Amino acid sequence: MMDSSFAVQNNDTTMKFPTDEAVVVEEDIISKLHESVLGHILSFIPTMEAIHTCVLSKRWIDVWTSISGLQFNDSLLCFGTRMQKEQFVHFVNRVLLHLANSCIQSFSLCLTCHYDSSQVSAWISSVLERGLQKLHVQYANEVLLCCHSLFSCSSLVQLVLQMNCTLSLPIFSCLPNLQHLSISGIKLVSESSTFSEDMILSFPVLKVFEARGCEWLTMQNISIEAPLLERFSIAIWNSLSDESYKPSIKIFAPNLTDFSYEGDLEQAIILLNSSSIRSASIVVVLDEDKKDRMEKLGLQAYKLLSQISGVEYLKLLFYKVLMHSKDIFINLPTFGRLTYLQLNEITGEALFNILHNSPILNTLVLQNGVSELNKDVMSCASVPQCFLSTLKIFQYKGFNVHEHELLLAKFVMANATVLESMTVSVAFWLRYSDIDMEKVKEQILLFPKGSSFAIIEFCD
Ligand SMILES: *[C@@H]1O[C@H](CO)[C@@H](O)[C@H](O)[C@H]1NC(C)=O
Ligand SMILES: *[C@@H]1O[C@H](CO)[C@@H](O)[C@H](O)[C@H]1NC(C)=O
Ligand SMILES: *[C@@H]1O[C@H](CO)[C@@H](O)[C@H](O)[C@H]1NC(C)=O
Ligand SMILES: *[C@@H]1O[C@H](CO)[C@@H](O)[C@H](O)[C@H]1NC(C)=O
Ligand SMILES: *[C@@H]1O[C@H](CO)[C@@H](O)[C@H](O)[C@H]1NC(C)=O
Ligand SMILES: *[C@@H]1O[C@H](CO)[C@@H](O)[C@H](O)[C@H]1NC(C)=O
Ligand SMILES: *[C@@H]1O[C@H](CO)[C@@H](O)[C@H](O)[C@H]1NC(C)=O
Repeated sequence: MMDSSFAVQNNDTTMKFPTDEAVVVEEDIISKLHESVLGHILSFIPTMEAIHTCVLSKRWIDVWTSISGLQFNDSLLCFGTRMQKEQFVHFVNRVLLHLANSCIQSFSLCLTCHYDSSQVSAWISSVLERGLQKLHVQYANEVLLCCHSLFSCSSLVQLVLQMNCTLSLPIFSCLPNLQHLSISGIKLVSESSTFSEDMILSFPVLKVFEARGCEWLTMQNISIEAPLLERFSIAIWNSLSDESYKPSIKIFAPNLTDFSYEGDLEQAIILLNSSSIRSASIVVVLDEDKKDRMEKLGLQAYKLLSQISGVEYLKLLFYKVLMHSKDIFINLPTFGRLTYLQLNEITGEALFNILHNSPILNTLVLQNGVSELNKDVMSCASVPQCFLSTLKIFQYKGFNVHEHELLLAKFVMANATVLESMTVSVAFWLRYSDIDMEKVKEQILLFPKGSSFAIIEFCD
């Protein structure tokens, strides 16, 4: 039976139905659907609204009790106002109690207030053993979650956890049906304190793995076994922790095609069987006060890049790194398949190192021009192979009209013999300077062209 506490007691607002005369009164097809079908439909809307359907008519009073998906969101407005925290807790508890014997396929919890951490974990635990396929939790405060119940929930297909909690992992865990895993803010520690074996996370059918801002603090190295994984994305900053032991994260994913890394390169990412990776994004951001690390950086960058040398598409973005570590790209793998390359901060020297290692590059995008370029480097540099055969598109963004940038433009125009298009986007601040851009454009257009069909364009 319906509990009266679910009815919304608010006098100013009543549910409004179309009363306009123009609306033709049609047969109510929806209400004729079987209760289980209606329950299924209601599973896709916030639970609060699903329950409000009980006011539609007698026919609807119990329909919501056949829903199999629950979505709780404490910032959702209920008739124009937010529920009080106590009301919300009461509401969730009552719904869960009502559905205590039902199968719950999806459960979403989006919390912005601060709750008792055992309360939140009780809500989560109460739905785990009931055929749950999708679990989505978004909560900024601490939760005490029992990892055993989470990792024994073998029905899970999609797991999204954005919350502050510590998961204590056993040496082996497996989620046999999980296809999508996205975690952020989680602290992963190990149950066992031996250093010996790797900790294994086995996901036989996982397709997408995303981890952002998690702390990997296990005593053992971590081994992620995901034979069907297609996309792996990790954002990891070690400055978060002072732990001296930084486990390496090994990924066995022979079918991986998309790889994304964001971090400080402190923690080793080891890609086993990574030759299928075609698209990669590497973003390296360093703490200003960790300048002493710069020496190691070249080697760490090399280790990561050499594992993805089979990429066709590469975004390589370094922030606050190259000005301290000029020789970072001295050792580079050969990117034998690379056709698209995007860079942000780059010195001329580093740029030439990369170009010389990218024999079939088609598109080069410089997001912020080049920071410096030694004339000698350019005059003694041989022309990169891709300039002679494959480089067709050059996007030169953040152009500051510095001498060395003009030299680079001149070099590319003269030596890229199959170039089809060069687009120069002028840096924002030049709009407010007294540099005569028309003159600069004229000057560039007069540079000798190695490719007669190259189109040179300018945009602001
Ligand atoms: C709601 O309606 C009841 C009965 O009609 C009335 O006694 C009460 O004061 C109303 N409350 C508000 C908030 O208007
Ligand atoms: C929760 O509700 C707020 C306010 O309506 C909304 O902005 C947010 O996207 C919702 N969150 C989820 C996960 O649905
Ligand atoms: C997570 O919770 C712990 C313990 O309550 C707290 O010390 C820490 O600051 C929290 N972290 C975040 C990112 O909220
Ligand atoms: C973890 O892996 C690194 C290399 O990837 C290795 O040097 C180290 O010995 C491993 N540690 C343990 C505890 O197995
Ligand atoms: C791996 O990917 C290839 C090509 O995308 C596909 O043909 C193959 O079936 C995949 N392997 C598995 C085990 O799914
Ligand atoms: C993965 O790589 C290892 C060694 O590099 C090799 O022995 C193994 O056959 C590879 N497995 C697959 C599925 O490619
Ligand atoms: C073209 O490349 C050659 C060989 O590196 C170099 O000497 C020459 O200066 C380049 N042309 C221009 C216009 O920069």
